[in-house]
Amino acid sequence: MGSENEVGIDVTALRKQSGAITYDPGYGNTGSCESAITFIDGEKGILRYRGYPIEELAERCHFTEVCYLLINGELPTQQQYDAFHNELTYHSLIHEDMKKFFEGYAITAHPMAILSSMVSALSSYYPHAESDEDVDLNVIRLLAKATTIAAFSYKKSIGQPFVYPANNLSYTENFIHMMFAVPSEPYEVPEVIADALNLVLVLHADHEQNCSTSTVRMVGSGGANLFASISAGISALWGPLHGGANQEVIEMLQRIRDDGGNYKKYVDLAKDRSSNFRLMGFGHRVYKNFDPRARLLKASADRVLDQLGVDDPLLDIAKNLEAVALEDEYFLERNLYPNVDFYSGILYRAMGIPTDMFTVMFALGRLPGWIAHWREIRDDPKGRIHRPRQIYTGPTERPYVPLAER
Ligand code: SDX
Repeated sequence: MGSENEVGIDVTALRKQSGAITYDPGYGNTGSCESAITFIDGEKGILRYRGYPIEELAERCHFTEVCYLLINGELPTQQQYDAFHNELTYHSLIHEDMKKFFEGYAITAHPMAILSSMVSALSSYYPHAESDEDVDLNVIRLLAKATTIAAFSYKKSIGQPFVYPANNLSYTENFIHMMFAVPSEPYEVPEVIADALNLVLVLHADHEQNCSTSTVRMVGSGGANLFASISAGISALWGPLHGGANQEVIEMLQRIRDDGGNYKKYVDLAKDRSSNFRLMGFGHRVYKNFDPRARLLKASADRVLDQLGVDDPLLDIAKNLEAVALEDEYFLERNLYPNVDFYSGILYRAMGIPTDMFTVMFALGRLPGWIAHWREIRDDPKGRIHRPRQIYTGPTERPYVPLAER
């Protein structure tokens, strides 16, 4: 029984006692672990990080505070926060040799390919990963350097020189500065953009046993180091049904705009199973009510576009899609509501972030959650390597037939 009275049936002895295994494709009803990091109630639209409601954290917390909370289990004192922030600041440079990696990537390389490979490559620069002290320092290095790697991948894609981290800026301001400053002129980080980025990162910071986090736990369960495990999580997030959905949503909204804005046609298409078209940004395995993050992102998108004086037709199309879908039987009977990816892309566009960087932004937000889960499984005294069973459906035993006789 969990602290929120969730009930799980322990089947660890099932096969030994009955010869049978449980069968649950996609793990929709399977608990892989006990975890003390994040609680979701999909029916009530509740999301809490270490017990704190997402609405309060989103409104009142720096993203680095949320990183500390998820990884250490408690909100930091002012002294702990200052020390943590200081460490992140002074570990934000990547080794100069790592810049050479960027020369090898194609100019068209997707920034998720760069991020996952560069994060894995960090293990070659920081091979000591066993002791708690090594792990603590690698956690700082990863959080600090991931933003630099992401910003450098953007500069590479537009042929501009890298902009190094500035130690006088906050974590979010620094990322924006590395993304959009150019060496030839002064750059002032717009407060509205820094605030919006902080909100988006907080909302993406963790989400219990989703596909990419379960991947991080799976890889970590085998004893793989932090960088290798997180690199696997970045790759898992890339899928269009998972973190890649935010890029798919914008491309879908652009397709609808280019097709005369006829959003009702696309709602009907999404209901037609033979069309293979899905309303990207809609639906969720756990939330059978509104994704609380979608509500907060929608409100932020309205606010930020208004403050920036931006009129984005894609936001209107998104709102119309949502309104029509939420009155349509097909979506209502399947509990399909907007999820975290439905409005996040609108915000990223308003910040000037290119579409193919959207999933990288999701990864930067999810880093503290992945790290917290990797640490949880690493430190679990009952921790076992993840090794699911299967139901075999292939050929039964048959004798080998030599090539000449086939
Ligand atoms: C994230 O798990 C997490 O916590 C993930 C995440 C996180 O923070 O880590 O929240 C982030 O990944 C959000 C989800 C982003 N993905 C998308 O927006 C892609 C579009 N959504 C879907 O593909 C789908 O809803 C999933 C993948 C999100 C959930 O898939 P499930 O739980 O396996 O549901 P399903 O595919 O079995 O669908 C159930 C029914 C089906 O119809 P029927 O077979 O009952 O007739 O709902 C339909 C589906 O066809 N359906 C949709 C739909 N999503 C589900 N129909 C149209 N449009 C959609 N978006």
